[in-house]
Amino acid sequence: LDNGLALTPPMGWLTWERFRCITDCKKYPDECISENLIKRTVDHMVNDGYLDAGYEYVGIDDCWLEKKRGPDGRMVPDRERFPSGMKALADYIHSRGLKFGIYEDYGNLTCAGYPGVLGSEQLDIDTFVEWDVDYIKLDGCYIPPEDMDKGYPEFGRMLNASGRPILYSCSWPAYQEDKKILPDYASIAKHCNLWRNWDDIDDSWASLSSIMDWFGDNQDRLAPHAGPGHWNDPDMLLIGNFGLSEDQARTQMAVWAVLAAPLLISADLATMKPEFKRILLNKDIIAVNQDRLGKQGLRVWKQRNISVWHRELSNGERALAFVSQRADGAPYAAKFTFQDMQLPEQTYTVQAITLSAPLYQGLPSAILRTQDKKLQKPGHLGYILLYIPRTPVTCLPS
Ligand code: GLA
Repeated sequence: LDNGLALTPPMGWLTWERFRCITDCKKYPDECISENLIKRTVDHMVNDGYLDAGYEYVGIDDCWLEKKRGPDGRMVPDRERFPSGMKALADYIHSRGLKFGIYEDYGNLTCAGYPGVLGSEQLDIDTFVEWDVDYIKLDGCYIPPEDMDKGYPEFGRMLNASGRPILYSCSWPAYQEDKKILPDYASIAKHCNLWRNWDDIDDSWASLSSIMDWFGDNQDRLAPHAGPGHWNDPDMLLIGNFGLSEDQARTQMAVWAVLAAPLLISADLATMKPEFKRILLNKDIIAVNQDRLGKQGLRVWKQRNISVWHRELSNGERALAFVSQRADGAPYAAKFTFQDMQLPEQTYTVQAITLSAPLYQGLPSAILRTQDKKLQKPGHLGYILLYIPRTPVTCLPS
């Protein structure tokens, strides 16, 4: 969507994957979807370096509404959990230098059963504008996927006509892919800043791995539509939660960087472990993700569940991620050529961003000739990203 926003993949934080639809603040005072959770997160984003690293949006996903609209037809934020109202919350977010994201659904109801926008689109956009919202995730429950090709662009036009720059996150293709309707990605890219393509991510390696597979398997029809202002969205980062090992967390960060994916943390920043925080704040990986060329990378090689992912960057640099999705614990040697990696055969200067020792030892000597950290020269390999959940991979020269 050409609205001047999301020229690089959006970065921020979103409630859903970690906090779901927790609404009982008596039982779960630190985890319920509430203004307290948002304010606490905002403070951590500012104080703990997330904002400085580029994470600028803080988003409330589903379950922020009262079950009924007000007498004037307007959406009403839950009175107990958002007692100060959304405008006050937006003011707080903006006062700390962040931007405000919120969730709604294009159908009659949100996925969790709160009022959707259907039939109240203009009033709801007016309300979001009054609340100084900067980012809307518009979900697609309770509406036939066939209606989305018209409905999502229409809502986008109304958003644009509001005059407030609002980042527009669509779920349009995810519902169509699910029903085996082939999405019109050219139209989606024209009308949305980012869009969920596929399944919801859950806090497990199995879920992450299946999403990586799907994006690799379908890359030929997805990747050409990504670029400045419009991005495929493989869903939130799990990093900092319960389900991924440290290496698996690195894998997600690396593959999301190669995919030019939005980086939306969904974790409790108050209890974030330092090893996960380091991954989320790794400047070099973020630089790959945010590369201004905006070209989505591809899985260029895969054998026995070991794969190489390759992204072209600006200045002729490239990022490579070496990934093992094996979970059987034994070391594997993976042998691939320059051609397999889709790299012209030449000597490269390499910056290793995160590298396990076995991978490092086995890297082709041609690639590892120099270890210059600052390299801008065209034609040089910019980055090697990483990682290997549990099983070391050895790269052998071609
Ligand atoms: C859908 C979306 C999720 C989340 C939930 C909220 O499942 O795909 O990302 O927004 O709805 O109910």
